[in-house]
Amino acid sequence: MKILVTGGAGYIGATFAFEALKNNHKVLVIDNFSNSKPEQILKIKNIFKENFEFTELDLAKEYRQLINCVEVFRPDIVVHFAGLKAVGESQSNPIKYWDNNVISSINLIKAMAINKVKKLIFSSSATVYGDSKFQPIPETAEIKSMSVYGSTKIAIENMLSEVAREGTIDVVSLRYFNPVGSHKEKLIYEDPLNSPNNLMPRIIRVALGIDKELKIYGNDYQTKDGSGERDYIHISDLIDGHFSAIDFIFKTHGKKIFNLGTGKSTSVIELIKTFELVNSIEIPFKISKRRPGDVAICYADPSLAKEVLDWQAKYNLSDMCMDAWVGVKDHGFN
Ligand code: NAD
Ligand code: UD1
Repeated sequence: MKILVTGGAGYIGATFAFEALKNNHKVLVIDNFSNSKPEQILKIKNIFKENFEFTELDLAKEYRQLINCVEVFRPDIVVHFAGLKAVGESQSNPIKYWDNNVISSINLIKAMAINKVKKLIFSSSATVYGDSKFQPIPETAEIKSMSVYGSTKIAIENMLSEVAREGTIDVVSLRYFNPVGSHKEKLIYEDPLNSPNNLMPRIIRVALGIDKELKIYGNDYQTKDGSGERDYIHISDLIDGHFSAIDFIFKTHGKKIFNLGTGKSTSVIELIKTFELVNSIEIPFKISKRRPGDVAICYADPSLAKEVLDWQAKYNLSDMCMDAWVGVKDHGFN
């Protein structure tokens, strides 16, 4: 199959592209390196000399080139990972986020429509559920924005629903919970120098000695130990979910939404303790005030994905903590 992967130099997109190539698909990655490095592409190119192409292009700004790319490559399906994801930055620079995330998606849909490419998998986020009172959260829960980043994901999902309803494209929107860890070959991992907002990269920074201690954002939530609870999912499980979605989208029409999570809720303190235990590294921490915009608990009801996609997460928290650290400590950074 020919797969166009947008944002394929990033953490999740590059892992997906790698696995797709391993499964003998032909892959074209588009990325503008706004939050990734060319080294990531070189690593993939060095392993997969055939079947892999890369085009450096800004989806939001280079529409003509995008149309041309789609026309020449003629993908069977597009997997759309490209987007900016830093919640704090989205609050201080909303136009940048609307411009980049939403315009990119509009341009992509137009380029697909012109070239009669019908199948799209979209990277959405559990952030669209806001502070849902339903826990675990089913796909039917109300949508509510808690940030500009969240608003852009909701806007894109709404646009995709309308385009899919009209019949131009079929869409599977995957709402990721909290992806962590690196994939089996340990070549692609979330660069903690680049993405300092999320919990696991911050733990890794402490493990590497870059930061002295981890700040826990609040210990006064109504949760099992007062710290925030999330649904951490191993990157390999997340990527498997995409291949299940690809199998499914060729048998369906319209737009479907699936949560990709484990259905297990883990507190910040539990994650730190598990990381310490499985990696034999101490992670000093201190309790700090709550982070604005954070919710107390957010975890998935993944039963729809199990029922319809025949997918469920296999890895546990210990695997995630081990694989998050091994990927970094064995290979260092570019
Ligand atoms: P990432 O930042 O590592 O990768 C995104 C890639 O998109 C980067 O390589 C970046 O350079 C590229 N990009 C951004 N704007 C672009 C543009 N206009 N044109 C071309 N390329 C562009 O992020 P990730 O963690 O791999 O996330 C991938 C997707 O999954 C994003 O859409 C993100 O919002 C979504 N998501 C991620 C998480 C998470 O925890 N990592 C959770 C939920 C949803
Ligand atoms: C965050 C974003 C979310 C986005 C997701 C993936 C916010 C409010 N939410 O989700 O929109 O889709 O990343 O990019 O930014 N924590 C600490 N100390 C830290 C870092 C995090 O205690 O240094 C805690 C948080 O308070 C939270 C948990 O760890 O309870 C997970 O945080 P994080 O990894 O940032 O993910 P989310 O907040 O779930």
